[in-house]
Amino acid sequence: MSAPRTVDVGGDAPYRIEIGPGLLADGARLTTHARGRHALLLTDSHVAPLYAAAVEAALRDARPELRVAIHVMPAGEAHKTLASFGAVIDALAALGATRDATVYALGGGVVGDLAGFAAACWMRGVDCVQLPTTLLSMVDSSVGGKTAVDIPQGKNLVGAFHPPRAVFADTAALRTLPPRELRAGLTEVIKYGAIRDPRFFEWLDTEREALLAGDHRAPAEAIARSCEHKAGIVERDPLEKGERALLNLGHTFGHAIEAEQGYSGDDRDALVHGEAVAVGMVLPSARLSARLGMAPDADTQRLRSLLLDYGLPVDVPAGLAPDALLARMRLDKKNLAGRLRLVLWRGIGRAEVVPDVDEAQVLEVLGTR
Ligand code: GLY
Repeated sequence: MSAPRTVDVGGDAPYRIEIGPGLLADGARLTTHARGRHALLLTDSHVAPLYAAAVEAALRDARPELRVAIHVMPAGEAHKTLASFGAVIDALAALGATRDATVYALGGGVVGDLAGFAAACWMRGVDCVQLPTTLLSMVDSSVGGKTAVDIPQGKNLVGAFHPPRAVFADTAALRTLPPRELRAGLTEVIKYGAIRDPRFFEWLDTEREALLAGDHRAPAEAIARSCEHKAGIVERDPLEKGERALLNLGHTFGHAIEAEQGYSGDDRDALVHGEAVAVGMVLPSARLSARLGMAPDADTQRLRSLLLDYGLPVDVPAGLAPDALLARMRLDKKNLAGRLRLVLWRGIGRAEVVPDVDEAQVLEVLGTR
């Protein structure tokens, strides 16, 4: 195996992101950060049959004294709940996990968020090592320490900041990723170009075929560049007091769609997270920004076209009422003093947080098709 690419995240709790094929089988690397004798491997019903046994074997081979338990949760955002959180806590208790235990999160963003939150809470905080298997979790959710569960009122409303000890993004896992999930992950990659990096935005346009074909080189490059952007932001602003909010371009509205649709689970028509964020980046973010004179119309069209070229949705799914979506947006964590605070856009490569956005303007944009 060639040496993985690495991205270091600095700050008070530094850690390394390693990116490359075959990492999930490399027990010596995966256990570098396991301080104690207990490891809980949290995964879901889609990922478990593919990788859980191999990861468990790799951990045991590298560290025979490690007591490893596997906990498999049902797959899907619909299961990122307080009930699932309770089941992970029960698994840690059954394992007899002590304060030096490690929770390994093997899966996508749902598993990563839930594992991180359980690790943040068990005995007031044990280590979490992220083993993301989806593109979305490799470029976004496994990095930066945001952990949470959803409640019926909204997404990620209960959680904690708990940075991982390490992140291992095994790019070989992308080969088993359903094409819909690969495209959804590319939304978050496009987001980095949209908010910070016009040259990366161009690159994403030219490398579309290679990225969608899932060859190794282009995704590894996209993951490394995305992680470099995210690492820079979260080390300056780990608790989202300022600049980190820019990473939420499209998310306030995307989360509202997800909540209004009851979260994708077995419902194949419901948008998955990356798809909902794609709609949110165009509507209301870019379109509202263009209407407010903040971003050139031409850039809004380019963003829309790039997302469409990647096979991503850009329109509000039928049947979702603008006022119901706005009500959901009012519960977003970025809002302060009851005012709608949104990440808006200055055109390709620049975004900014705008406090007190006029709700009537948002409603109008949401109502356009
Ligand atoms: N996903 C946005 C963030 O980590 O801040």
